[in-house]
Amino acid sequence: MIFDILTLFPEMFHSPLEHSILGKARKEGLIKVNLINIRDHAEGRHRVTDDYPYGGGKGMIMKAEPIIKGVQAIMSEDPGAWVILMTPQGTPLKQEAVKRLAQLSHLVLICGRYEGIDERVRDFVNEEICIGDYVLTGGEPAAVVLVDAVSRLIPGVLGHEGAAEDDSFSQGLLEYPQFTRPRDFEGRRVPEMLLSGDHQAIERWRRREALRRTWERRPDLLVKAKLSKEDLEILEELKGASGSG
Ligand code: ADE
Repeated sequence: MIFDILTLFPEMFHSPLEHSILGKARKEGLIKVNLINIRDHAEGRHRVTDDYPYGGGKGMIMKAEPIIKGVQAIMSEDPGAWVILMTPQGTPLKQEAVKRLAQLSHLVLICGRYEGIDERVRDFVNEEICIGDYVLTGGEPAAVVLVDAVSRLIPGVLGHEGAAEDDSFSQGLLEYPQFTRPRDFEGRRVPEMLLSGDHQAIERWRRREALRRTWERRPDLLVKAKLSKEDLEILEELKGASGSG
């Protein structure tokens, strides 16, 4: 997977992409991240990348031309590259979209800054993505989130195949609670079931806890989750037990 990131602040990506799983994935060539400074595509001695808004108003607007030239330079090499604008106005990012993007081979991420971006940039993008209902100082942290979420679905990146399958969201449910040693931490004991060695019973317990957690914290996810007849029975039981019918 190639990620081309168009940004005014390439340095913001150095640390997040150097360490841990992403750092290793890059070293092993499973992902390649190219940081492209939008300023390098700006014209003139001062390479200006922003300007005042037409019609007046506060703040500066990122100019269309350097961004579009940056995109075009990439597209001339690979017309199949998929261009994404990181913006709070985009479609909220969900694991389903992450899975879809992980199937592609070349993503171009445009990071906006300042008060906004010239509207004409939008004619050159395939989709706009928002990572949550809050406003960041720029698209850079959002691009890091997207690179991270997509990369970990690329075969080999997580090391243990299938690891992404159990995650929160990947099956439409939040993940079950996890424990490691010690068995007893100042009176907080690991659930007996997990020590039983009965793998089928443990799987059932985990499914039940995933359902419980999702119902308690994110009931909205249950509407879309793939649920078996047994899952629905468990949910009914949990609801009954909590007295909310
Ligand atoms: N740029 C600023 N805020 C953002 C957000 N929430 N998602 C994506 N890009 C952004």
